[in-house]
Amino acid sequence: MTARQSELIALADRVLVKNYRQQPLVLERGRGAEVWDVDGRRYLDMTAGIAVCCLGHAHPAFTARLTEQLGKLTQVSNLYFNDQQIRAAEALIEHSFAERIFFCNSGAEANEAALKLARRYQAVIAGAPERTTIIATEGSFHGRSIATVSVTGQPKYREGFGPLFEPVTFVPFGDIAAARAALQTGTACAFLVEPIQAEGGIVVPPPGYLAQLRALCTDTGTVLIFDEVQTGIGRTGRWFGHQYDGVSPDVMTLAKGLGGGIPIGAVATTDVFGAGLAAQPGGAVPHASTFGGNPLACAAARAVLDIIEDEGLLERVNSAGDYLGQRLSALVRKHPGVALDARGRGLLRGVRVAGAPATVIARCRDKGVLLSIAGPDVIRFAPPFVIERHHIDEGVDVLGAALAEGGL
Ligand SMILES: Cc1ncc(COP(=O)(O)O)c(C=O)c1O
Repeated sequence: MTARQSELIALADRVLVKNYRQQPLVLERGRGAEVWDVDGRRYLDMTAGIAVCCLGHAHPAFTARLTEQLGKLTQVSNLYFNDQQIRAAEALIEHSFAERIFFCNSGAEANEAALKLARRYQAVIAGAPERTTIIATEGSFHGRSIATVSVTGQPKYREGFGPLFEPVTFVPFGDIAAARAALQTGTACAFLVEPIQAEGGIVVPPPGYLAQLRALCTDTGTVLIFDEVQTGIGRTGRWFGHQYDGVSPDVMTLAKGLGGGIPIGAVATTDVFGAGLAAQPGGAVPHASTFGGNPLACAAARAVLDIIEDEGLLERVNSAGDYLGQRLSALVRKHPGVALDARGRGLLRGVRVAGAPATVIARCRDKGVLLSIAGPDVIRFAPPFVIERHHIDEGVDVLGAALAEGGL
């Protein structure tokens, strides 16, 4: 590490709240699937800002669209409409089951809004105020606000923050019998689930799970919420992860890839369930956000959706994802006992490792490849969709070299 980088890290140590555990790397610029630190060292970016920068860094068309919007209008609040918000909602509806969109600024905010929607839908629209229990899955991750840590099925995220939002019931992910039992209590408000548990370790549920949940929620009058914050906007090779299952939810939450690197979140829903957040005549505004749906973020979302389509990036996710999957499976065969299994879909993939995943990540970083951890022991690959085959080869070869060093 040179002087400039170490000086900045020393300054960070003095000026930032120490909630994060950053790696000793100060990044300054990027292009496509590559980023450079302040000292000019190049890295292959297999994290994409944690499954966010789907178009890669500094994509020319994306940059041009954002620059144009910056020169026009960035924020007006929701006291007024703005053209970008309306057009972004229209574009999301075109690509999904949804009929109505609410915009916010992050994944946690989208889930928070979805929980409020579900509670108010049951109380005000369905006339079932006793239905308040949120059912969520063990191992899930839904955000860091008080309500969203309360429905996150990993105790480590909840410790020290009580009293939490309740009532919440956790059921094992992928277990339809447990879901059925929890749904049949008469107090279920909503079932919240990720199509693939991402932060939990890239866990793909058994085939048919989402379809069975759909049927159970319909039968019991429970709001079905799919958290597509990480799996949405093409990450798994379809626009939304649930489209593999041939069913749609009542509510879907989005963030991450939707803005391609500009913060935005969204709740996508139907006319019927959208009524859960609609103002009643003469009543107060039930939910709002100062920045939600601002013209800059919505111009980013529109650009992301257009560019994915114009450049055929879903096909690219599928072909690159298949290749990455094959290479990771081969890596597991080559390093038995160290690399335990390869998992995932599209360009959301991982390898479960025995030993210390943080050491593996650090070794890869020192060899010029950025990776992240998902769950306790999975090395996650969530690269930009513009990734090339030679990048995949580089990333997998470097991971193989890191594993081959032993001593984990
Ligand atoms: C599935 C899922 N939901 C919600 C969130 C929270 O999103 P944010 O960090 O934008 O609040 C994440 C973040 O990793 C996520 O993966």
